[in-house]
Amino acid sequence: MRPQAFIQTYGCQMNEHDSNQMRNVLAAEGYAFTDKPERAALIVVNTCSVRGNPENKVYSFLGTLRDLKRQKPDLVVAVAGCVAQQEGENILRREKSVDLVFGPDNLFRLPEMVRAAREGKRLCETGWMPRQRKIQNFIPEEWAERGHVDGVKAYIAITKGCNNMCTYCIVPHTRGREVSRESKNILREARSLVDRGAKEIWLLGQNVNSYRASKDYRFHALLDELSRVDGLERIRFTSPHPKDWDNTLTDLMAERANICNHLHLPFQAGSDRVLHAMRRNHTLEEYLAKIEYLQRRIPGIALTTDLIVGFPGETEEDFERTLFALETVRFSQVFAFKYSPRPGTAAAQIEDDVPRGEKEERLARVLDLQSQITEEQMTEQRDTVQRVLIDGAHPRQRGAMDGRTDGYRPISVTDDTLEIGDLVDVRVTGHRGHWLQGEVVRESARA
Ligand code: 5AD
Ligand code: SF4
Repeated sequence: MRPQAFIQTYGCQMNEHDSNQMRNVLAAEGYAFTDKPERAALIVVNTCSVRGNPENKVYSFLGTLRDLKRQKPDLVVAVAGCVAQQEGENILRREKSVDLVFGPDNLFRLPEMVRAAREGKRLCETGWMPRQRKIQNFIPEEWAERGHVDGVKAYIAITKGCNNMCTYCIVPHTRGREVSRESKNILREARSLVDRGAKEIWLLGQNVNSYRASKDYRFHALLDELSRVDGLERIRFTSPHPKDWDNTLTDLMAERANICNHLHLPFQAGSDRVLHAMRRNHTLEEYLAKIEYLQRRIPGIALTTDLIVGFPGETEEDFERTLFALETVRFSQVFAFKYSPRPGTAAAQIEDDVPRGEKEERLARVLDLQSQITEEQMTEQRDTVQRVLIDGAHPRQRGAMDGRTDGYRPISVTDDTLEIGDLVDVRVTGHRGHWLQGEVVRESARA
């Protein structure tokens, strides 16, 4: 019987993508996959250290593996991802059940590392890939055309690492300096994914729009070329940085039907003083001017964002600027987090002086305001016609299929003729929570 691997993923889409790459390299070694850790010969915990919460989850999950390891001494437990990169040997010291710790740059060496662990070694592989130039094909050639297609969707990593040094952020410490892949590799990967059924491709990078293959070939040029790939119905990307977003990107989005009208543009804080202390390199006014252009050029565009409450020194007045930004932009979804100091970052040197209760209260105020805005937006969607990509069967309702609108809103469509991968026009009939409901607009009804 083939050995089974269990992979547990925390964190961002880049981590999900890394887990998919691990599945690819392990499948080539003869592994099958299970969703039951107790059946696995290999467990990989792909970790995230971006905030306190995901990091704690990692350690409590590792704790649950101790008994399993005692019962099955042959089991190999590996810790990958950002916590692994940052904590390295400490994890081996703290968790005796862990055999292998490796960082994101060592992912493609997984089979040889697991073999060494099977021979009884405890390994910590957190070195960086030899860095050549700012252009680097960090996905080895032999894997570039074997990217995973998940139903209708696939990811392509276009940059790796980050040069921004936002003061609260661990990512430059765990993912290293920024490098961009050569565009011809990215395009080859995109064509291969489309040939294998991908309808929607997500471009990934810690700061995706600072992609730069040369002085004249930047994110705009890449998006432009990708949007001409035959059969590629939808392109999304995450996460862009506001300072590297310019109106020519908005124009391109407006022009090309397959670049989705959805932008996740984190603003983090509304106060210029806090933005400066976060080293974000833009003001709220600059951010809002870009949003204003986006909303003018692309009416109905869905905007989403990340923000942090309780950054050191954030006063009530500062915080109210964050609420002001939410009211002004009216995002379709907001990911709001309480600030947590990350060891080794610049902000961790400053006193974390906003009391926990205050952070919680601010977070609750953000969520309250946003749920009101989301509810109003969902109601506004009623009777509009949305282009929907069908991506799965509804888990409970027979004859209904689920999909996403261009603006990435989830929607259930009552229709028993639809298939996964169909791209259809749907009239919104209502919503439940943040989930839309609708019916296909038939040609005759549209005329
Ligand atoms: N504390 C709280 N939130 C953070 N984020 C990143 N670092 C921290 C931190 N130290 C949030 C940011 C980022 C998202 C991925 O996580 O909003 O955009
Ligand atoms: Fe978490 Fe950031 Fe690492 Fe992604 S890159 S896994 S969000 S710490």
